[in-house]
Amino acid sequence: MAAVAEGGRCPLLAAARGAYEAAFGGSAAVAAWAPGRVNLIGEHTDYNDGFVLPMALQLGTVLVGSPTRDGTVSILTTAPGADEPHRVQFPAPTLSHPLSPGQPHWANYVKGVIQHYRGGPVPGFNAVIASDVPLGGGLSSSASLEVATYTFLQQLCPDDGDLVAKALACQQAEHTFASMPCGIMDQFISVMGKESHALLIDCRSLDAVPVPLCDANLAVLITNSNVRHALSGSEYPTRRRQCQEAAAALGRSSLRDVTMAELEGGHGASVGSRHCGVCCRVYMCVCAASRSRLGEEVYRRARHVVGEIERTARAAQALQDGDYVTFGMLMVESHNSLRDDYAVSCPELDQLVAAALEVDGVYGSRMTGGGFGGCTVTLLVAEAAERAQQHIQEKYSGTATFYITKPSDGAKVLPL
Ligand code: GLA
Repeated sequence: MAAVAEGGRCPLLAAARGAYEAAFGGSAAVAAWAPGRVNLIGEHTDYNDGFVLPMALQLGTVLVGSPTRDGTVSILTTAPGADEPHRVQFPAPTLSHPLSPGQPHWANYVKGVIQHYRGGPVPGFNAVIASDVPLGGGLSSSASLEVATYTFLQQLCPDDGDLVAKALACQQAEHTFASMPCGIMDQFISVMGKESHALLIDCRSLDAVPVPLCDANLAVLITNSNVRHALSGSEYPTRRRQCQEAAAALGRSSLRDVTMAELEGGHGASVGSRHCGVCCRVYMCVCAASRSRLGEEVYRRARHVVGEIERTARAAQALQDGDYVTFGMLMVESHNSLRDDYAVSCPELDQLVAAALEVDGVYGSRMTGGGFGGCTVTLLVAEAAERAQQHIQEKYSGTATFYITKPSDGAKVLPL
């Protein structure tokens, strides 16, 4: 059976400090840490103004470093799986010489955050990155690097301390320097995470409600499929576009404003005050026309999102009530919808979910994150955790890695 990682932060800090001394001489003056995340439910809803319910992990990224006087930024990464070279050097940006993305890929997250940092100008600095979030595993290693970088920069040249603006700046970094048009979930939870709680985030208002998740009889098991299919990059923007297309066709600015009743049709399912003159004489309605108007594929994408937004709100309530059975059922519905309607699962994730659901004491299981590989998340009674890992590994055709983790606080400065 694969090892369980608890994700302690101090060994990571010690490793980063040691690597800093070896690479740059002298000791680092500043250290910051930011967590990865697992999303319990609410997948592909953030860029549709919907709800998400993630929790921050105990796994995260550390940045240690010191300012320099020569206006040069030098960074070394020790993160397993980062592309070569592991050390980069570039001039701190100025108004006339902004940074731009390039190679290696890992450095783009750091450069993007420096460029979008709200408290600049950023001075030159030396830094070392260490991380125990598996890279490309769907646990937001990139958001954790972005938010750790931002938190580190806050120590070098403070900004106004606005946390929502911090998350948005990190999201911008990902959009412009990693060409990933992500929603706000990952950066938001990495900044705002709360120990012993999941966060119900309204991705339209950016309000967040903490939902307790600290029952000693309950465990959250993350299973990494250790596969990442090539589609993951190209399919995400396509899904985003299809959602916008569906909302526009239904006369709404986002799918958050569409109900299942409207989408599924039926006379009187008004989506606006315009007269359509086709299927319903009074109001423009989606009736049977919605499916054919959107086209089958876009209709299914919209059906996932609209259903998932409803499910997430219900799941948060179930968790609040300690109703894990309902929560687990909603997780399974979410997975099925992601597999069948949104088409972002893959055989490996389906296998892991199916295997988890065979275990006594498992409430629910689903893929988590963008999809096409990465991880599943399983909610189960704590005493079933050991046998669940054994069973899942026996049934899985690949090699899985397991993490049992508790909800952690968001990014923080680490005292040195
Ligand atoms: C990725 C993105 C998030 C979110 C998820 C899917 O993790 O970074 O913004 O869209 O996929 O829920």
